[in-house]
Amino acid sequence: MFLLSFVPPGIRIFVRGQMANSIQTSSDTLRVLPHTQYHTEGSLSPLNVAPDPLEQFRIWFTEASAKVSEPETMTVSTATASGIPSARTVLFKQVDSTGFVFFTNYTSRKSKELLENPNAALVFYWKELHKQVRILGKVEKLSEEENEEYFHSRPVGSQLGAWASKQSTVIEEGEIEHRLEKYRQRFHVNEGDPLSAQIPAPDFWGGWRVVPK
Ligand SMILES: Cc1cc2nc3c(=O)[nH]c(=O)nc-3n(C[C@H](O)[C@H](O)[C@H](O)COP(=O)(O)O)c2cc1C
Repeated sequence: MFLLSFVPPGIRIFVRGQMANSIQTSSDTLRVLPHTQYHTEGSLSPLNVAPDPLEQFRIWFTEASAKVSEPETMTVSTATASGIPSARTVLFKQVDSTGFVFFTNYTSRKSKELLENPNAALVFYWKELHKQVRILGKVEKLSEEENEEYFHSRPVGSQLGAWASKQSTVIEEGEIEHRLEKYRQRFHVNEGDPLSAQIPAPDFWGGWRVVPK
């Protein structure tokens, strides 16, 4: 968007210098021109996918891990009790037969919506594989033990970040730095030896498990 402010209306530009993704702008419209060719290698048929969708996900995610930058990036969609949707990017952390897990702030907009309406949708898109995966299900919160275990596996900076971050709220200039410093002091984080800090998991932070239906 920043770059486009220098582009005269009506001009075509080539993002990343390729023929794909050519765009056209006018004073009120930005249009993506139909250059992009979506071609797939091979085909998708019931004969070449695993009967168990979870097993297929494992196969594709493993393939994506070798070819895609941050394959764990996924969209999570939630909705209010009256069905007004919202979506955002989060990082997928784990899957097993019980469901797909991501971590977040339990006071965030997404968490508030999941508390009033447990239906969620996840989407992964792996461009390099020409594939997307959609998961629909209901959510459940992870247990305190599971949250603690994951929280303490994170770097100290991320642990402090979880304490300092007030998700889905307007943040004043410098507020995050101020809050980070507050928690650094509260938990006696020593810059020279950050791993010695004992930081408890906040009760307003943890995981959601999307249980596919
Ligand atoms: C690449 C990427 C990964 C992200 N991963 C997470 C995540 O794992 N958990 C999270 O709470 N927010 C994550 N965020 C931030 C969310 O997209 C979002 O801004 C935040 O959670 C507040 O969302 P909400 O107000 O809709 O609840 C990520 C953002 C990006 C761009």
